[in-house]
Amino acid sequence: MQTEHIDEVLADFAAQGWSATPSMVLPYAFRLPGDVGAKATESFFAGRFEVQDLGSQMVLATHAIAPGGRWLDACAGAGGKALHLARMLGSTGHVVAHDIRPDALAELAERAHRARLKTVSRSTEVPPGQFDGVLVDAPCSGSGTWRRSPHLKWITTPASVEAHARTQLELLQRFANLVRPGGQLIYATCSLNRTENEGVMTAFLASHPEFAAEPPAHDFGFACPGPGLTVLPARHDTDGFFTCALRRR
Ligand SMILES: C[S@@+](CC[C@H](N)C(=O)[O-])C[C@H]1O[C@@H](n2cnc3c(N)ncnc32)[C@H](O)[C@@H]1O
Repeated sequence: MQTEHIDEVLADFAAQGWSATPSMVLPYAFRLPGDVGAKATESFFAGRFEVQDLGSQMVLATHAIAPGGRWLDACAGAGGKALHLARMLGSTGHVVAHDIRPDALAELAERAHRARLKTVSRSTEVPPGQFDGVLVDAPCSGSGTWRRSPHLKWITTPASVEAHARTQLELLQRFANLVRPGGQLIYATCSLNRTENEGVMTAFLASHPEFAAEPPAHDFGFACPGPGLTVLPARHDTDGFFTCALRRR
């Protein structure tokens, strides 16, 4: 939820007879019971909140992201994280949302318009120049989302996981060049498979000594023995995610 509109949104929900439970980890996240039709409310049309899994919101909240930067969301999709990133960067920041799917970017534009966010632009081309930060929320096996998409369990194989890991490494290598010296590269997946997470990080760091992993700014109570943080579903009732921030020397 947009922090300045929390009271208004909660009043809107209360008028519908819905009680929203505050998240234990993010002050601007609330859980509604079941599928109550939140997207039909006045507050939703006014762009005062977005519907997003808590775990997805925890990805960016894990990291220390300074306001005011120019960022590339390299795999922006329909923009769940791009909108969150734009809020974190504030009015002096800017997010270029890139994806190979124009239809997803069109949906992102609608969401940004609804949220009155003027600091997000879109591009199906890889933009030129360097950025203060690049987010690579990579395509993955989706094993962190099995509770909502159980069919994925039946189509995920060792070979498909390996194929995802190859793509993820390739995307990271491609977009890492767009991070300015001193800037951040944030990697994320909604997979719980180490091959796609720690494995990709280890391979990337081994061939890119100009990048170093940063410890999470917030660990939400999870142990972080290696590079990155894994959001396990059971702890905060979320989808599962992995995320790791790297800093270019
Ligand atoms: C995990 S989804 C992104 C979800 C999105 N960031 C969000 O928070 O809602 C991965 C995205 O990567 C995009 N993608 C796949 N291959 C790509 C490529 N070569 N370059 C850029 N984006 C790509 C897909 O179209 C998909 O939208």
